[in-house]
Amino acid sequence: MIDIHSHVLFAVDDGAKNLEESIKLIEEAVSLGYTGIVCSAHYKISKFENRRYDEKFNILKEEVLKRKLPISLYKGNELDLREKVLKVLDNVYTINDTRYILVEFSRPLIYEAYIKIIDALIERGYIPILAHVERYPYIKLQDFMKLYDKKVIFQMNLTTVKTMSKKVKFLLEEGYIQVVGTDAHRVGSRDYSVLGHLNKLKKIVGEERFLQLTKENPRKIVMNEDINLETRREKKRNEKVLSFNGVFRFIFRKLFNGINGTRCNSKG
Ligand SMILES: [Fe+2]
Repeated sequence: MIDIHSHVLFAVDDGAKNLEESIKLIEEAVSLGYTGIVCSAHYKISKFENRRYDEKFNILKEEVLKRKLPISLYKGNELDLREKVLKVLDNVYTINDTRYILVEFSRPLIYEAYIKIIDALIERGYIPILAHVERYPYIKLQDFMKLYDKKVIFQMNLTTVKTMSKKVKFLLEEGYIQVVGTDAHRVGSRDYSVLGHLNKLKKIVGEERFLQLTKENPRKIVMNEDINLETRREKKRNEKVLSFNGVFRFIFRKLFNGINGTRCNSKG
């Protein structure tokens, strides 16, 4: 599994406080089966602005190597969307230097204002991933659908799996949510004690979707590959079309072969 949303990088935001805490969190993640973590520290203008991010990232990476922890660390940020962000994009890390950028709506800005920023990001070639979709009760389902139509990726925090609202449950079960993350911050509270949540998620969505949400899609994000955004309804519809086409092709082949066969016979 790869966790695309975490605050394990120490002393950059409100996540891990020091190197020791970063390592403890990473050890927990490894024991759970994670093989990759994106250090998606908050980027909040005037509050968290990647101060000495690179230096701390290198220290953490070296420590992980020294301790032979079998995990890859990737750079990233969780960008707090507000009007001014377009001016600071050069300082913000996308996930592993790909087109994917993790973003959050952190205050009840007017929805239209968010959409303008999302559109501007898409225009510049980014693929926004909306962090913890469960945190926006003020966004109506139809507005989520508009974001989905713009190919915004929805990420859900794993801990939400036990307390999902009807809306989030719908988004998860119908296949609108494409990736889960831990949003791990610190040891003892928001950490990697998520085994129960992983099991619950598997129970709800089934093995295949579980692997997509925790492993395949996060891998595609980190590798800058496209994600299949097909929802459950679309998948069913496409399967019907495919099976109809299959039947049609079968009948056509039978007829065509039949005609050929007749010709052969007549020649003989
Ligand atoms: Fe976060």
